[in-house]
Amino acid sequence: MRLHVANHPLIAHKLTVLRDRQTPSATFRQLVDELVTLLAYEATREVAVSETPIETPVAPTVGLTLSEPRPIVVPVLRAGLGMLEGMTRLLPTAEVGFLGMRRDDDTLEIETYANRLPDDLSGRQCFVLDPMLATGHTMVAATNYLFERGAKDVTCVCILAAPEGISTLEAAIGDRADVNVVVAAVDERLNEKSYIVPGLGDAGDRLYGIVDCFASRAPRSRGGAPTNDSGWGKDSGPSPTRIFSASTSGNN
Ligand code: URA
Repeated sequence: MRLHVANHPLIAHKLTVLRDRQTPSATFRQLVDELVTLLAYEATREVAVSETPIETPVAPTVGLTLSEPRPIVVPVLRAGLGMLEGMTRLLPTAEVGFLGMRRDDDTLEIETYANRLPDDLSGRQCFVLDPMLATGHTMVAATNYLFERGAKDVTCVCILAAPEGISTLEAAIGDRADVNVVVAAVDERLNEKSYIVPGLGDAGDRLYGIVDCFASRAPRSRGGAPTNDSGWGKDSGPSPTRIFSASTSGNN
């Protein structure tokens, strides 16, 4: 596994504003979008290209265009969705698949509640989007999912990582595949609730400003993120099992 930590003053500046608990959702979304576009530049450094003959108005030449099969971008729902546009801005011809995964805040187990991916990912370059590489469990589950479908070339694009998550991912991948991890920064550690410290709080809540329906079982501590006092998600919503059976049917 190769780790690339972005080292650029613009990224550091945007990240600082992103971390600030006073930054409102709309600005947060905009900054995530901008940061991902900057990270995408690094993440796509080894995207496969093929020689393509063209004619300019002046002369014939041979250029480079993205190879087939097209790369696939896989945001991990829900927070990874906030990174999709920033990534596809640089890779507009990429295909987009989705993986719905969430961490149970009590057991820290990962549930897959939805997916929309091709069955065969062999030969495809895959870009997994998840803003927070915290425990690493979601990213391990997501990359396993891709490996099971034949992917060998996976790049994980994250805004922040914790050292614990990086180690967990590295140990889980072993030498099974060629995996790159591109992050804007590696923070100090995880706290007792598995939030990244200093981090930026709950990325999904800060992006969308609402609590997802799974959070209904118990109000959560948000690891320093602004709290949601609206009451959303506090009464019982659909269980993960119901969502899984309603919306997941392999390659639908
Ligand atoms: N997920 C988040 O959204 N934030 C963290 O700090 C860790 C996991």
